[in-house]
Amino acid sequence: MTIDPNALADVAAVPGVAKPDPIVTIDGLERSFGGVHAVNVDHLEIQRGTITSLIGPNGAGKTTLFNLISGFDEPDNGEWDLDGGGLVGISAYQVARRGMVRTFQLTKSLARLTVMENMHVADQTNPGETLRGALFGGWRKAEDEATEKATALLERFGLTHMADEFAGSLSGGQRKLLEVARALMVDPDVIMLDEPMAGVNPALTQSLLHHITGLREDGMTVIFIEHDMDVVQEISDWVVVLAEGSVIAEGPPASIGSNEIVIDAYLGRTHREEEE
Ligand SMILES: Nc1ncnc2c1ncn2[C@@H]1O[C@H](COP(=O)(O)OP(=O)(O)O)[C@@H](O)[C@H]1O
Ligand SMILES: [Mg+2]
Repeated sequence: MTIDPNALADVAAVPGVAKPDPIVTIDGLERSFGGVHAVNVDHLEIQRGTITSLIGPNGAGKTTLFNLISGFDEPDNGEWDLDGGGLVGISAYQVARRGMVRTFQLTKSLARLTVMENMHVADQTNPGETLRGALFGGWRKAEDEATEKATALLERFGLTHMADEFAGSLSGGQRKLLEVARALMVDPDVIMLDEPMAGVNPALTQSLLHHITGLREDGMTVIFIEHDMDVVQEISDWVVVLAEGSVIAEGPPASIGSNEIVIDAYLGRTHREEEE
């Protein structure tokens, strides 16, 4: 399947706008904590084969949105689908099996397992059980294939020399790479990265960016939470801005920086405090 790089060229920069070939579609998604509307997304489509950045001030609801659509949390209302298949009520494990995976803002690699063992933990929700099953369950053939795949992924992410080390001994950046590598074990169509650049030293930042654009080159759709605007401008095909749980703007990266509504969302509190 070839992806048209100009597919979004004629799409209007309007919140909730339809895309020519959406792989993920979200409708009426709501999640409150106490009185706080953490997520309240009326309609959002993610174009297949793009890097879509999800940005917004702290507490905007970015991580909660990831939690909801990846099956790690349940919404109060709403529906969403992956390639036309509804995902309401589907567990995180099953969402991953259907081709949509996510990484975590705080990495979830298991410090006391080796890097290679972490790669075999495909079930992000219950790693211990799956690992035991994988190692002792007699799934020899599947296991051989998984080892082959894991070996290739560790090579791709420059982690081969760390394969037998405890994940706990990795640097922050290496841990992020491991998490992306691990997510790829299920051959996802959509990969959601929650601030993969956070805590990564500058030397590894370019390499990580290169890996992320590589995912798109391989035909994956990437949804990318990032706060560094230079990074967002550099690698995004499309940017979605969340504030107080809702999509307040979306468009090509160049349209976002000068958007008054976006500037106000980032600076709003300061403005208001100054006026008081
Ligand atoms: N488990 C939770 N319990 C209570 N409040 C939460 C929980 N998770 C998120 N929130 C609240 O929801 C809002 C959105 O949080 P979050 O999705 O983490 O934002 P972001 O990732 O954009 O910084 C915040 O007000 C946050 O405090
Ligand atoms: Mg977050």
